Amino acid sequence: MAEKIVTAEDLANKMREVSVAEFFEKNRHLLGYENTTKSLLTIVKEAVDNSLDATNEAGILPDIKVTLRELSPDKFKIIVEDNGPGIVEEKISLAFGKLLYGSKFHRLRQSRGTQGIGISGAILYSQLTTGKPVRIMSSTGKAIHSVDLLIDVLKNAPIAASKKEERNPDKWHGTKIEMEAEGRYMEGRQSIPEFLKQTAIANPYAKIVYDGPNGKVTFDRAVKELPIQPKEIKPHPYGVELGILRRMATNTHARNLVGFLTTEFSRVGRSSADQIIRLAKVENKNPKDLTHDETGRLHKAIQMVKLVSPPTDCLSPMGEKIIEEGLKKELEAEFFVAVTRPPAVYRGNPFQVEVGLAYGGKLPTDSTAQLIRFANRVPLLYHQSDCATSEATIDTDWRRYDFQQSSGQLPQGPLVILIHFASVYVPYTSEGKQAIADYPEIIKEIKLALQEAGRKLSIYVRQKNKRRDAQLRSELFEKYIPELAESLEKLTDVKRQKIIEDLEKIIKKGVKGEKEAGS
Ligand SMILES: Nc1ncnc2c1ncn2[C@@H]1O[C@H](COP(=O)(O)OP(=O)(O)OP(=O)(O)O)[C@@H](O)[C@H]1O
Ligand SMILES: [Mg+2]
Repeated sequence: MAEKIVTAEDLANKMREVSVAEFFEKNRHLLGYENTTKSLLTIVKEAVDNSLDATNEAGILPDIKVTLRELSPDKFKIIVEDNGPGIVEEKISLAFGKLLYGSKFHRLRQSRGTQGIGISGAILYSQLTTGKPVRIMSSTGKAIHSVDLLIDVLKNAPIAASKKEERNPDKWHGTKIEMEAEGRYMEGRQSIPEFLKQTAIANPYAKIVYDGPNGKVTFDRAVKELPIQPKEIKPHPYGVELGILRRMATNTHARNLVGFLTTEFSRVGRSSADQIIRLAKVENKNPKDLTHDETGRLHKAIQMVKLVSPPTDCLSPMGEKIIEEGLKKELEAEFFVAVTRPPAVYRGNPFQVEVGLAYGGKLPTDSTAQLIRFANRVPLLYHQSDCATSEATIDTDWRRYDFQQSSGQLPQGPLVILIHFASVYVPYTSEGKQAIADYPEIIKEIKLALQEAGRKLSIYVRQKNKRRDAQLRSELFEKYIPELAESLEKLTDVKRQKIIEDLEKIIKKGVKGEKEAGS
């Protein structure tokens, strides 16, 4: 029988709005829940990121406790508790039970989270794999509020299954999340302990206690001060796209264009604003009344006027000292070097790249270098090959720094490469936040940082290789001393034993001399 032909009306009857929660329930791989091992890590990561953001913003030295209990081989209980500022009662349900709801998206400030989807995505996954609500306990120092939360997927809205208020005699403040989820536990390179260890390297002011299936690990505070608070900034006009400029102009409270340009953007002063307006031929216009053409001209004019680069006090790099110390604490290598580049800009967003190298010692010699990646101090453990950091590392010519490297590969040898990308907006390749997009400006900065660190390392490697060659030469020479002494004895009448002693002295002196020259 012939298939019934579908009409536009049939299709129209099937059309309906899709809620964002429904979308991510179907596409949970986009949020990092494509397999059971990664899912457990993603839950811990989202909760720990939030705890670090919240404590940082509130100026509190973070104390974070992560507990993982195996309920059955494929089911776990995950508890993450922090000593942050807590969340006010009215916002608890929305912050945790509504996707794309958060405090960080509409601002330009360096933070771990931005999208408002991280922890609600974790709750969605928990609900999907267990059907149970998630318990949130939070206090701002007054009463303690507990909410058992589910997400109404079709509406993308929280459902509070139960609510409780308790007294708080100890004035505890912070947030505790408790959920069950399907998962598989493994330790190794892409595991929860590795994530926490790398988090401790990049956030040495945090104390993190991990109580996992294989016992308790404590990452103690290595420094007692929080990093300087990154400032919030306005967007820099060079990076603003036409559509966004249009929306900003429509929604502005400014009554004229000079006011609009000088208050809603960074680095636009009165005279730059006048210049832009004149170039765009939009004098005396109200920003709300700009036509499509006029906005286009304004957008072009902005790019033509010379403006100072965006302010960089919105960034919070780790700094060379912290990187070196962090690597020393966690790796048994013999040489460490770190480089913090000056800030740069991509699409109007300030960013800064840092690189740390650890070399030699007990690092494996027969494999490719290990890459440790961070974005705003968050370790990235997955999707390495899609990340700008790995593209830039592969693109760097490591043979210049005395490493072997096959084309399209990371360098070979006892080397760990740490790369930190800090920005007010990290251009992740997907909502799962595991890889940084390869904007040319970003690739260029990473390569410059790697080259600078590579040059410093190569001075050390060359000296080491020179010492090793001298040692090999002298060992070879020593092997022939008896034969040489025998021939010389015949030729010169000097006793063989005396010749051997003299030759050994010469070799020792030679090796010592090369060592001194090399050190
Ligand atoms: N431990 C916490 N303490 C205080 N506030 C929190 C905590 N966890 C979450 N929040 C609040 O809940 C909001 C939503 O968190 P969520 O992880 O979903 O989004 P986000 O962190 O803003 O961005 P991202 O999707 O990139 O993680 C946050 O913006 C923050 O305001
Ligand atoms: Mg988050």
